Amino acid sequence: MIGGDGIGPEVVAEALKVVRAAGADLEEVPYDLGGARYRRTGDVLPDATLAELREFDAILLGAVGTPGVPPGLIERGLLLRLRFELDLYVNLRPFTGDGLDFVVVRENTEGPYVGEGGVLRKGTPQEVATQGSVNTRMGVERCVRFAFDLAATRPRRHVTLVHKTNVLAYAGDLWQRTFDEVASERAAAGVTTGYDHVDAACIHLVESPARYDVIVTDNLFGDILTDLAGAVTGGIGHAASANLNPARTGPSLFEPVHGSAPDIAGTGRANPVAAIRSAAMMLDFLGEAEAAAHIVRACTATPLSPGASTTEIGDFIAARVTKE
Ligand code: IPM
Ligand code: MN
Repeated sequence: MIGGDGIGPEVVAEALKVVRAAGADLEEVPYDLGGARYRRTGDVLPDATLAELREFDAILLGAVGTPGVPPGLIERGLLLRLRFELDLYVNLRPFTGDGLDFVVVRENTEGPYVGEGGVLRKGTPQEVATQGSVNTRMGVERCVRFAFDLAATRPRRHVTLVHKTNVLAYAGDLWQRTFDEVASERAAAGVTTGYDHVDAACIHLVESPARYDVIVTDNLFGDILTDLAGAVTGGIGHAASANLNPARTGPSLFEPVHGSAPDIAGTGRANPVAAIRSAAMMLDFLGEAEAAAHIVRACTATPLSPGASTTEIGDFIAARVTKE
């Protein structure tokens, strides 16, 4: 358990309350990582801590990022480092609500997130900044295959590739060819396909999100699209995610899509549902399917009054879990 920064520890506490109520048999080990620790000790993720984390079955993370430390330092040094080093190559983000049921398979180890590039002549009028996007055949293919495997288990069996192939000619071409090859292999399994440019996908998510079943997309497009998808399916306070190592050569990491929201930290106004649903995804991945299903049902039960606090929502769902 990594509570992290801002509202992270508050929502993780509620998630664990619900996990315990669901009767899942877990051993919980808290890790103090994030902005507060960085300010105290100057380190973000010591190698020895990373080595310890590798030995767990799963990591539940609240949120990282805090004012007062250089922007992105904790995000890159903790969250992105875990994604890269643990090879969490799929970021799975499901969305449900009002006749909607779709899932975004976001590539999670490549694209513009790798930090390729640099700066020249910094601070001068001639300053040059480049930021590369790294796309490997292996990385794209394993992500696309995951999306097709997932689609084959869903009633609608439809996968949409979202990219910007009209402008990002090199990366787009690699994604499109890989997608088409996997699609033709899987046609016999009855999986159908579509393609949307990312800008058009934004309109569709707002106007007609029911068209989507499984979306597979690049790391940065997936980051942006899943905030939008959260907003159009009941709010970002509900959006859960799983950073998966599908090969299970190490732990996977589960976290809400939302950030650390320092502006409301400590006020009891954070919605813990996204963290609770992320914990349900964790239980499901760990083979505790029944406990996970109880939690998912409890989360969709009668909504609370809009003013309910973080702990009230946690208590409410924990009480429902045993009845579902
Ligand atoms: C997310 C977050 C992260 C990302 C940040 C905190 C680095 O926005 O998980 O969506 O950009 O991937
Ligand atoms: Mn994001």
